Amino acid sequence: MLDQTRLPGEVVQVTLTEWPEVVDAIRTMVVRGAPAIGVAGAMGVALAAAGAAATGATREAFDAEVGRAIAALRDARPTAVNLAWAVDRLGGIVTAHEGTPGEIAFDLADAARGIHTDEVERCVAIGNHSLRLITRGARILTHCNAGALATGGYGTALGVVRAAHAADPTVTVIVDETRPLLQGSRLTAWELEREAIPYTLISDNMAAALMAQGRVTHVVVGADRIAANGDVVNKIGTYGVAILAREHGIPFIVAAPTSTLDLSMPSAAGIPVEERAAGEVRGLSLFGRPAASPDSPVANPAFDRTPARLVTAIVTEQGVHRAPYERSLRDAWDTAGH
Ligand code: MRU
Repeated sequence: MLDQTRLPGEVVQVTLTEWPEVVDAIRTMVVRGAPAIGVAGAMGVALAAAGAAATGATREAFDAEVGRAIAALRDARPTAVNLAWAVDRLGGIVTAHEGTPGEIAFDLADAARGIHTDEVERCVAIGNHSLRLITRGARILTHCNAGALATGGYGTALGVVRAAHAADPTVTVIVDETRPLLQGSRLTAWELEREAIPYTLISDNMAAALMAQGRVTHVVVGADRIAANGDVVNKIGTYGVAILAREHGIPFIVAAPTSTLDLSMPSAAGIPVEERAAGEVRGLSLFGRPAASPDSPVANPAFDRTPARLVTAIVTEQGVHRAPYERSLRDAWDTAGH
């Protein structure tokens, strides 16, 4: 995988061969973004199975090792449901399988590759469905990185941008830098540059002023988890952007595959929000010096909850969903065959 912590300065591929390395890569955000950590998690389970099968493990020992990997991968990050969804899917294959460890390991590798291919196809479908929501000459504000890096290819919010820009080359993007980990400036800007899609980078506190000046026509973001009622959990700062969009009459569009739905959650209230290390907030340097005292008390929730009433539309690979979301998201889940 591409090491996302080293972008945009260095483009470095890392090769992981043991499942604990995958747990670590997810935790440290070498790989990040909801669908991408799902794909990585599935590959981690497949690695655990291949490793156990190669040692000639009994079926019992094999199941125990794969079970350990599933539990650790599932816990690596708590908010994006794609991770639990993907590893549990592979867990289900193990439970139902009557073959030898070698045969199961083979099928798990196949299933992990299948999840990767499916996620990319879902993103392309999201891009196509979204075309009817994006008007000519759109100036699309996006938050965080919901691009190829975050999804194993193409992207959800950036998939919408890609499709819109291919249909209308006058489409441009406004990129929130996305404090504290700067996924916007480090990753989204890097992707857009490679795609030759024109963009303007702003710090997060500039969005309101640009909206007031009429410089934003749409907001498009991804999601880490979407509850049954259409509440959206996404990168910290998304909720604020949604409030701003409502105030300025700008459509707020969420693009996510059905693997990001968690219909067991009636609303976002019960969705866990990861709290990350204080150093991520204090860590910025300016003028060659730390920008915060090393002792500053810090809050660092990595995600926030945007209520469905602020969401204009949710686009999945199954189509465009509008409020009330319950029925439409349930149908999308069922049609996707999860
Ligand atoms: O903490 P991160 O960088 O993994 O958070 C990622 C986001 O919040 C993305 O917007 C979300 O996962 C959607 S990616 C298609």
